Amino acid sequence: MLIREAAADDWPRIWPFWQRIVSAGETYAWDPHTSEEDARALWTAPGKRVYVVEDDAGAVVASAYVTPNYGGPAARIANAGFMVDPDRSGQGFGRALAEHLLAAAKADGYRAMVFNAVVETNPAVGLWTSLGFTILGTVPDAYEHARHGLVGLHIMYKAL
Ligand SMILES: CC(C)(COP(=O)(O)OP(=O)(O)OC[C@H]1O[C@@H](n2cnc3c(N)ncnc32)[C@H](O)[C@@H]1OP(=O)(O)O)[C@@H](O)C(=O)NCCC(=O)NCCS
Repeated sequence: MLIREAAADDWPRIWPFWQRIVSAGETYAWDPHTSEEDARALWTAPGKRVYVVEDDAGAVVASAYVTPNYGGPAARIANAGFMVDPDRSGQGFGRALAEHLLAAAKADGYRAMVFNAVVETNPAVGLWTSLGFTILGTVPDAYEHARHGLVGLHIMYKAL
């Protein structure tokens, strides 16, 4: 696989799995009906450093971003988002991308990474924990999960 920074013409290859993941209403606190234009603005907003993963055949199978989670004197605390094409999940792309981003964020001068809203039923919680993230707290019944109903949102943290 190849992990690299995204170029503008990568977006059409990110959008199909972005839409599939967000429209499922199980992992992201974004409108499941988000338009492509709004999705692009969310994922590639100014200040976000966006990455993609290509498989050995050159297909874009995952994307992630890193951005300051706060401003001013707290701007060295990062936030990140990750998406792997559901057709390619469970093949190690997510873990490799996360490890790459954690190292890149540290190299960029971030001192820690925070996830603001990890759906507590998301299997990704296990991935984040295995990478050293801890759950700082949980906002109870915050997320109307498409299958599980009201579930909590974890705030997760890792020092870099
Ligand atoms: C979460 C996500 C990024 C993980 O990427 P992935 O490529 O599927 O994960 P990997 O194959 O690298 O697996 C990483 C670990 O997480 C576990 N895992 C990931 N997704 C899982 C799932 N759906 N069910 C069970 N375990 C899962 C695996 O057991 C694996 O553990 P291991 O490395 O010890 O074997 C990906 O599934 C995804 O994009 N999900 C939808 C969007 C999302 O939830 N993003 C994160 C929001 S907090």
